[in-house]
Amino acid sequence: MTSTNSVIYIYLFLISLLSYNEAKSYHAVVIIHGVLTGSDSMELISNRIQEIHPGTPVYNTVRYAGWSSLEPMWQQVEEIGMDVLSVGAAFPEGINLIGYSQGGLLARAILQRFPMHNVRNFISLSSPQAGQYGTRFLHLFFPDLVCETAYELFYSRLGQHTSIGNYWNDPRHQELYHKYSKFLPYVNNEIDVYNNSDYKTGLIKLRRMILIGGPDDGVITPWQSSHFGYYDNNDTVIEMHDRSIYKNDSIGLKTLDKQGKLKLITVPGIPHTEWHKNISIIDQFLLPYLD
Ligand SMILES: *[C@@H]1O[C@H](CO)[C@@H](O)[C@H](O)[C@H]1NC(C)=O
Ligand SMILES: *[C@@H]1O[C@H](CO)[C@@H](O)[C@H](O)[C@H]1NC(C)=O
Ligand SMILES: *[C@@H]1O[C@H](CO)[C@@H](O)[C@H](O)[C@H]1NC(C)=O
Ligand SMILES: *[C@@H]1O[C@H](CO)[C@@H](O)[C@H](O)[C@H]1NC(C)=O
Repeated sequence: MTSTNSVIYIYLFLISLLSYNEAKSYHAVVIIHGVLTGSDSMELISNRIQEIHPGTPVYNTVRYAGWSSLEPMWQQVEEIGMDVLSVGAAFPEGINLIGYSQGGLLARAILQRFPMHNVRNFISLSSPQAGQYGTRFLHLFFPDLVCETAYELFYSRLGQHTSIGNYWNDPRHQELYHKYSKFLPYVNNEIDVYNNSDYKTGLIKLRRMILIGGPDDGVITPWQSSHFGYYDNNDTVIEMHDRSIYKNDSIGLKTLDKQGKLKLITVPGIPHTEWHKNISIIDQFLLPYLD
């Protein structure tokens, strides 16, 4: 860990030297990859930012790649969060944050856990912001599990040692979810006695929150979870504006929305594994929000 940290500091020193002349033009970007992949999967985004906005420092995290991406969410939030703060310290004029899939949920939780951050724009690229309850997703990891009984594994002490257990949100077993899940109900301020005002502070200071998702995603289930929509207890998807997380302004979504800072983008025809690999998505929906 120490050696990884020094690598990061040397790297930050280099990017701040390289970007010295451009520092005023473009804000540095931190990128967080999805589950079971690593920084290489995010290189297209990283390269495209530097091609269109030359001189932009990009820090594409190498932490928690491959199987280690299944480590508990809080552990990843703490470690990657320290890097986000380090990059922010190197660029006091502010930075931008992009997370893809699980990386977008980690990114959001980092903003909440470290409300002293200096992130300007946050882009969530097809991330299970309201949780996940879907067979295709489940079978990436557990080919033999079925959705209906997966809660027996995830809502246990063992199941909570995995990132995906931390945001498994079974609409039929909400009591167990609230009782066992150590992550999602907390960052969503869904548990009254743990209402943490920092979790709202960290989000409402953003300049913009951009939530990107679409109906042909196939993995994020329901796909509206990418926009904070979710199932009620009767399999009906309730969109963000009609859910209590928005109506109670539990984490600041309503505040951001009223100030015109929350943007929901829906793009049909994009499967989950293509969002970060499609140049036209990057050009149309990421680059314009990295000012
Ligand atoms: C939202 O507010 C309502 C009443 O104002 C309350 O009953 C409910 O528990 C709150 N929900 C959350 C998730 O905070
Ligand atoms: C949680 O705390 C925030 C900030 O103090 C407050 O605005 C909000 O109403 C509280 N929510 C609940 C459900 O208590
Ligand atoms: C659940 O959905 C069924 C079928 O659409 C409907 O008949 C029932 O009233 C719904 N129940 C609730 C509690 O909304
Ligand atoms: C990339 O995304 C665009 C929408 O922005 C879509 O029209 C196009 O078909 C996608 N390309 C590929 C190769 O999936």
